[in-house]
Amino acid sequence: MSLRRTKIVATLGPATSSPEKIAELIAAGMNVARLNFSHGSADEHRRRARLVREIAEENGQHVALLGDLQGPKIRIGRFTDGRIELDVGDNFRLSTVHDLENGNSDIVGLDYPDLVSDCRAGDELLLDDGRVVLQVESVGRDEVRCRVTVGGPLSNNKGINRRGGGLSAAALTDKDRNDINLAAELEMEYVAVSFPRDAADMNLARKLLRDAESEAWLIAKIERAEAVADDETLDGLIQASDGVMVARGDLGVEIGDAELVGIQKHIISRARKQNKVVITATQMMESMISSPMPTRAEVSDVANAALDYTDAVMLSAETAAGDFPVEAVRAMDRICRGAEKHPTSQKSGHRLYQKTERCDETIALAAMYAGNHFPGVTAIITLTESGFTPLIMSRIRSHLPIFAFSPNAQTLGRVALYRGVQAMPFNPADMPSSDINQQAVNKLLEGGYVQPGDWVILTKGDVYNSRGGTNSMKLLHVGESLV
Ligand code: G6P
Repeated sequence: MSLRRTKIVATLGPATSSPEKIAELIAAGMNVARLNFSHGSADEHRRRARLVREIAEENGQHVALLGDLQGPKIRIGRFTDGRIELDVGDNFRLSTVHDLENGNSDIVGLDYPDLVSDCRAGDELLLDDGRVVLQVESVGRDEVRCRVTVGGPLSNNKGINRRGGGLSAAALTDKDRNDINLAAELEMEYVAVSFPRDAADMNLARKLLRDAESEAWLIAKIERAEAVADDETLDGLIQASDGVMVARGDLGVEIGDAELVGIQKHIISRARKQNKVVITATQMMESMISSPMPTRAEVSDVANAALDYTDAVMLSAETAAGDFPVEAVRAMDRICRGAEKHPTSQKSGHRLYQKTERCDETIALAAMYAGNHFPGVTAIITLTESGFTPLIMSRIRSHLPIFAFSPNAQTLGRVALYRGVQAMPFNPADMPSSDINQQAVNKLLEGGYVQPGDWVILTKGDVYNSRGGTNSMKLLHVGESLV
């Protein structure tokens, strides 16, 4: 069967903590395991991370670990009775001084003192992802007085957003700082930062990671209205990150569902133009939490993200806490493969009329153009140290599998997230340099990925095992003796 190009990120949780379930997820096609630091203890994450590593290795698979920081999500406190019921027209107050444990149907506490300076009369506040909506009527010294415009049940610790954004706690909390150390300890390939406002938040996260001696790549979750308010801010955030996540939950609440689909396409395209990876997330298979089959709308959502050329689609509660986690991964696998047959997934005009800046980038792009235009080519091999060269290659739409050959375990995990890229352990230092082309092609022959008579394109540098040095590409005819 041909290789799936769009990658699958699956969140691990109570429903997927056993070795059996993790093995099934990997067999079904999970490429990246997401550990959500908003839930669970450090030891639970350690255990799951260890299982993923062990089981992937036993099966010769490369699965990346992504740690998702909780971030400064602003939440209401708790209710004396656990939950209340709000009706349209009711008065309700959010207080920065009220007891956080004892809310009632008139008032609830919240641990965010800036609320009173951030809010104005007329603002709309959205609770529980917009299931309950409040209109601000007036703002006091330590409370915001509201009227309910969309009613419903409201329970402990639900999130709060303002329509249009603007509730802006600093992006990295003390808990996030601890979790960054945990991500470093577990040698995670990716760390996702929640609610970053701008490049400075990402730069701080990167510094903390490097101080903890982690090489993890950073994903900016785009989920604040401010982050997409103008291209300068969005591009700045993308530039400061190694990848982005279209985090549609909070983003949709803040900007409204009417804007969401257009913004999704915009973020994917801007990220790819800047040579960054992009994950599309939130509620992609939501109904599969309790049903073995996705709805037609969910099928269409996943397929459209694949057609937008996202690197990966993501599952959250579906795999963390749902009744059908393995079925959800299988469904995504099937739908992505279907979408990838569409001609728009295979043709590229990416950067065709733009100048390139670096030698390795030029070779990477040239290899893809050559592969897309010379019909005999069936695979691309790229020797890589850090994963940079295959990243550039995989920004180009193509039907060709890109094989990232690397001796570095972090790199082999990292490329698991890139669209169209397959990891292949390979150490050029283990062989005479005159053997490298032959041995690399032999690996694809042994795996059944190419046949005698095919053409393969291989890129590398003059010096082995050092990043940034790619300066050559070669067309190799499979079956002939290669030098
Ligand atoms: C390997 C190869 C080098 C090549 C490098 C590119 O180390 O042996 O010849 O230049 O990969 O690595 P990069 O991290 O830039 O993709």
